Amino acid sequence: MGRNGRAVSAILLLSVASAVLHIHLMQKRVRNLEHRFSQLQTDGDEIAGKEAVLEATRLKREKTRLVQKSYRATGEVQHRRGPLVEHELRTANSKEDKLRTANSKEDKLRTANSKEDKLRTAKSKKDKLRTAKSIEHEQRIAGSIEHEHRMAGSIESKLGQDVIQTASEDTQRDDYNKLVERVLLRLTTVPDKGSETGVVNPHPYSFVINNPGKCENQDVFLLILVTSVVENMRQRNGIRQTWGKESNMAGLGIKTVFAIGKTGDVAKQTALEEENRIYRDIIQEDFDDTHRNATLKTIMCLRWASQFCANAEFVLKATDNTFVNRIPFMNYLQGLQNRNIKGLLMGYTYSGTKPLRDPFFIPKWYVSEDDFPRDVYPKYTAGFAFVISNDIIRPLYEVSFKVKYLFIEDVYVGLCAEKLGIDPTHHDGFYPIFVDVNYCGLDWLLASHSVTEPELMTKFWLIINACRRLPQ
Ligand SMILES: *[C@@H]1O[C@H](CO)[C@@H](O)[C@H](O)[C@H]1NC(C)=O
Repeated sequence: MGRNGRAVSAILLLSVASAVLHIHLMQKRVRNLEHRFSQLQTDGDEIAGKEAVLEATRLKREKTRLVQKSYRATGEVQHRRGPLVEHELRTANSKEDKLRTANSKEDKLRTANSKEDKLRTAKSKKDKLRTAKSIEHEQRIAGSIEHEHRMAGSIESKLGQDVIQTASEDTQRDDYNKLVERVLLRLTTVPDKGSETGVVNPHPYSFVINNPGKCENQDVFLLILVTSVVENMRQRNGIRQTWGKESNMAGLGIKTVFAIGKTGDVAKQTALEEENRIYRDIIQEDFDDTHRNATLKTIMCLRWASQFCANAEFVLKATDNTFVNRIPFMNYLQGLQNRNIKGLLMGYTYSGTKPLRDPFFIPKWYVSEDDFPRDVYPKYTAGFAFVISNDIIRPLYEVSFKVKYLFIEDVYVGLCAEKLGIDPTHHDGFYPIFVDVNYCGLDWLLASHSVTEPELMTKFWLIINACRRLPQ
């Protein structure tokens, strides 16, 4: 049955992927045709120009139809994101091939391609320039550090002369010692002014709401950190009543915390504080809660875990539309603990996915070369649910200061792991799409995604628990 669910989801994904691909190719063809048309007009070749317009109109209609189709399909798998779609696209290669063959107009458009080539060359020149510039920049920093060293050196030698004149007098010697200390301090801090501390991503935010004592003096086996937004109280209640329920069953302490960013809405903020007074499970930092700030929330989770719950054996980072099959999940973690597993970052992993460089494809997930210059993302675990073992909670937080910010939070955690030399572990039980829990036998499932209705969360929980009570 689990396989059935998977097959349906896979088919759904394929249809979205192929629709998106269609649209993408159509857009490109429409653009090319429009370009060609304007060229033909200036050439005076009106008949061929009109033909191109007709074709472009037809393609536009086709595009609209596909967009609608993809919206319908996307509605069902709305959690899909750019990198994932791209990932799926690669598996849809056969469809892509079919599309690629068909076009006779393509011949006419070949001229346009040569322009594209020229553009590409120009771009690579621009890249080279950028590299040269950054080298120059580093040289400048190095130069200024050297200069400060020289200055500090001359201050030091001047002090050396002063001491000869004043060493006999005890009081002055005290002053002198203080001065020397200052100079030494200056000497040791000079290099820090350059890029050598490596801090490229400080996290200068403060907690507005916090529950610092939550893990104190307790055995915490699992800390659940759920990223949420102010408005999603119903989702949070769904989790509180089901898989995120705090407990201390059989000595396995479970603590749950919801991580939220800042809101400018006073009424919503008051309601959130009231919610926290009741449940004591909200943490909030003072950064704007926006799409491009998503990674700040994850860093805040890592921060909170290392500062206030460093005793947790495992941390689960989840989103507020994640469903966790709690008993198999806990059993699996216990197995890991028995084997004394260290350095664990585990979830549904992606390898070899690439940043979306086309700003019009899915604008929300567009990643510029300034955002992320490399061509391929490191291996990373999907953000809806991943597990971190105790020993790397703090290292992950601390290394985040040295990893350039990227708004895609799960890729960012992957970058931090990469910097620490940690290889993310894949587990098939982490299922990055919706699983309709309406039958038994789902013990293979650890966590699934896109449960956007709290009622559904409750229903799944009841079914899963009822299944456990059935005779095996
Ligand atoms: C992220 O939050 C900070 C702090 O509130 C804010 O200054 C910044 O504009 C936000 N960035 C985005 C892209 O929303």
